[in-house]
Amino acid sequence: MKNNRIYLADVFDFLQELEDNTVDLVIADPPYNMKKADWDTFRTEQDYFEFTLKWIDAMLPKCKPTASIYLFNNAYNSAIILHTLRQRRIVFRNWITWYKKDGFSSTRRRYVNAQETILFYTMSDDYTFNYDDIRIPYASIERIACAAKKGILKEGKRWYPNEKGKLCNDVWEITSQRHKVKVNGKIIKPLHPTIKPDEMIDRMIRASSDENDLVLDLFSGSGTTSRIAKQLNRNFVGCEMNREYVKIITNNGVDYDEL
Ligand SMILES: C[S@@+](CC[C@H](N)C(=O)[O-])C[C@H]1O[C@@H](n2cnc3c(N)ncnc32)[C@H](O)[C@@H]1O
Repeated sequence: MKNNRIYLADVFDFLQELEDNTVDLVIADPPYNMKKADWDTFRTEQDYFEFTLKWIDAMLPKCKPTASIYLFNNAYNSAIILHTLRQRRIVFRNWITWYKKDGFSSTRRRYVNAQETILFYTMSDDYTFNYDDIRIPYASIERIACAAKKGILKEGKRWYPNEKGKLCNDVWEITSQRHKVKVNGKIIKPLHPTIKPDEMIDRMIRASSDENDLVLDLFSGSGTTSRIAKQLNRNFVGCEMNREYVKIITNNGVDYDEL
C-alpha cells in the first residue's frame, strides 16, 4: 500500500492491507448512525456499535506507540464509545466539544443540538503535542493590551500574555462548513453532506503531528483531512468507499487508488 493517496475501499479491507505500527496520527470521522445518508443508517443501535468497535479494533494495531487518535461522533455515541474504550490500552486525553454556533432548528421538545464530540486519545504517554502551534486569541483584547505593557502580578511573578494567543481549550467554537460557503448570503448544498471545517482538521494535524509524519484519514468523505495533511507537509493515507465522493477528493487535488 502506498502513502499520499486515498483508497476507494471499505474500511475493513483497507485496514487489513495497511501495515501495522506505521501511523502517527488518526483522524476518524465515521458514520454516526444519524440517518443522514445510506452510509449513515444502521439497522439497530447494536449493529452500529458492533461496526464501530470493529473498525476501532482493526485501526489500533496500525498506530505507532507514540500515535494520537481523534474520533468524531455525537455526544451520545461518544459516551458509549468512551466507556467501551476503557477496556483498551490507550490513554484518554480530552473530550473535545465542537460548538457549531450557527444553524437553527425547529425543535420544541428539547434543547437544540449545537455540538459534536471529538474524543482525543494517545497510544501512550510519549506523544507529540505542539501546543504553541495551535494557540487561540485571548477573549479580552483590552485587558490583554494592558497586560502586554505592564504585565499582571500572579503569585509574586509578573505574567505577560503570549503574542501567539492563549493555550487552546477543549471547547472549539468553529462555524460548520456548510455555513461558511454561502452564495449571495444563501447556503448552497454541499457536495458531501458532512464535510468537516478545514480550521478544525488543521488544528488537529498541527497539534498532534510533525512534518513527514503519517496521518491516517479514515472515512475520508470529501478528503478534508488528506488535503490539509498534504498542505502541512504531512504524509497521509485514507479510505472512502463511495465512488462519487472520491471524485470530490480528486478534484481537491488528492490522488486516489483502488485496492
Ligand atoms: C462523516 S463522513 C466523512 C466526512 C469527511 N470528514 C469530510 O470532511 O468530508 C463519513 C464517510 O465515511 C464513508 N463510509 C461509510 N462507511 C464506510 C465504510 N464501511 N468504509 C469506508 N468508508 C465508509 C461515507 O461514504 C462518508 O463519506
